[in-house]
Amino acid sequence: MAEPLLDARDLVKNYGGVQALRGASFTAHEGEVVSLIGDNGAGKSTLVKCLSGVEQPDAGTIAFAGREVALPSPTSARALGIETVYQDLAVAPDLDPAANLFLGRELRRAGPLGWLGVLDKKEMRRRAAAAFHELGVSIQDVDVPIGALSGGQRQSVAVARSVVWAGRLVFMDEPTAALGVVQRERVLDVIRRVRDRGLAVVLISHNMPEVLAVSDRVEVLRLGRRVARFTAADTTVEELVGAMTGALSQEDA
Ligand SMILES: Nc1ncnc2c1ncn2[C@@H]1O[C@H](COP(=O)(O)OP(=O)(O)OP(=O)(O)O)[C@@H](O)[C@H]1O
Ligand SMILES: [Mg+2]
Repeated sequence: MAEPLLDARDLVKNYGGVQALRGASFTAHEGEVVSLIGDNGAGKSTLVKCLSGVEQPDAGTIAFAGREVALPSPTSARALGIETVYQDLAVAPDLDPAANLFLGRELRRAGPLGWLGVLDKKEMRRRAAAAFHELGVSIQDVDVPIGALSGGQRQSVAVARSVVWAGRLVFMDEPTAALGVVQRERVLDVIRRVRDRGLAVVLISHNMPEVLAVSDRVEVLRLGRRVARFTAADTTVEELVGAMTGALSQEDA
């Protein structure tokens, strides 16, 4: 297989006395969907936070596009083309959906005196509407603060934001957990399309049929370590569950 786009090795992360990651490794390649699975508390969200600059690992190395990198902040990860949909959704509840989509990257147009500085709300609304349409997100009123939307609508806005901005890799931490059947299928379609654009998509999900339906590969975390790797086409739900619970093990995969 080609060189991985992302190659994390032996990451350790302690929260006080809790060892969330105990030497976890993880890889993702361009043009693939790789699912990261594991039981509650296995360390999945912690790993994603370490790989998207939200948390700093206590030990281990991260290589991206063949070079060892430090990710001291989410901004530094974004600069590499890494976007993340966080499990504990990081949306700004007081802003409307379009403003959330462009949070930190607001479009501006020249002001009346030629200043750069007037927010181009119309263009942001137009692009946001196009992104929401692609995702099948129906938001009746795009002017309302996002805190007034349903949980599923908020989740869809977070997914839209990540796929609009990602240049190389998207982490999605349980992006379909709050979604109805139709929106879930739309998100899975979007994941496939992003993969077909040549990006790496990392999906975290507890829904094993969904994992097998959309992934090319699966990596399994248990108690803060990677314990197994699978090619999705060659495995079964039973095998995945066995690896997650420890009934079946490929120690230190
Ligand atoms: N900010 C924190 N402070 C203290 N402990 C934490 C913190 N974040 C995570 N942990 C602990 O680290 C371990 C791994 O948590 P993590 O959220 O990474 O699990 P997960 O695999 O994402 O689980 P889930 O499937 O339930 O989302 C857990 O024991 C959790 O309690
Ligand atoms: Mg989690």
